[in-house]
Amino acid sequence: MEVVILSNGEQIAALAADVIVRLLAQEPDAVLGLATGSSTLGVYAELIRRFRDGEVSFARARGFLLDEYVGLAADHPQRYRSVIRRELKESVDFSPGAVTGPDGTADDIRAACSSYEETIVAAGGVDLQLLGIGADGHIGFNEPGSSLASRTRIKTLTEQTRSDNARFFRSTDEVPRHVLTQGLGTISAARHLLMVATGPAKADAVHRMVEGPVSAACPASVLQVHPHVSVLLDDAAAARLELAGYYRETYAGKPSWQTL
Ligand code: F6R
Repeated sequence: MEVVILSNGEQIAALAADVIVRLLAQEPDAVLGLATGSSTLGVYAELIRRFRDGEVSFARARGFLLDEYVGLAADHPQRYRSVIRRELKESVDFSPGAVTGPDGTADDIRAACSSYEETIVAAGGVDLQLLGIGADGHIGFNEPGSSLASRTRIKTLTEQTRSDNARFFRSTDEVPRHVLTQGLGTISAARHLLMVATGPAKADAVHRMVEGPVSAACPASVLQVHPHVSVLLDDAAAARLELAGYYRETYAGKPSWQTL
């Protein structure tokens, strides 16, 4: 796991966009894993800017959402498919149908989850998975207690996550209790995991993810056993890291040929 501590969200968004732009230059038909939430918005804005500057094309790429609320109407603005359409897809050149997510409106949820897993495998698996982290250590919507080997399935949000996400709705009561999420096993199958986290509310979860035990109590700690993980943090999100000095020194002295 490589931990990179930067000064602000703009630097994080720029570095994350560098990684994605480079991947698409090398593999134009790469499969991207897309997270929603506030943390990744800057990355999407930077990708749109670079697309407009002619630096990147998504025309041959595919995108798979990490998760989705259950029970929101197909046209609900907070449905994650709507959010990704608004924040990225409609401003770049993805082909029609190239970006998909778990179907939170399905009558047969179990079948929808299995078919989502099959679609990801049929696409060749995810090359680069963008991730945020919840204050309780969740990735995707894998709340504490999630199996480290889990696949796409229905989960119940914790009260903390519902209250954290209430800012996107009129009240906490409107935040769905149930979600579909790629499992920790699904996420771990992606070839490169790229996490972005900013702000003091993430400091404890980041510390437990990077320096705590690998445990379902902190689902993001599963990243410790993945061979290729990049964690981009601002100073506030890195504030509780015991080895912060070492991570900074390592990144500052990184050989120029070695990319993330
Ligand atoms: C959503 C997702 C979640 C968020 C996490 C952080 O697709 O994957 O794990 O990344 O809840 O959310 P923000 O970025 O809003 O703090």
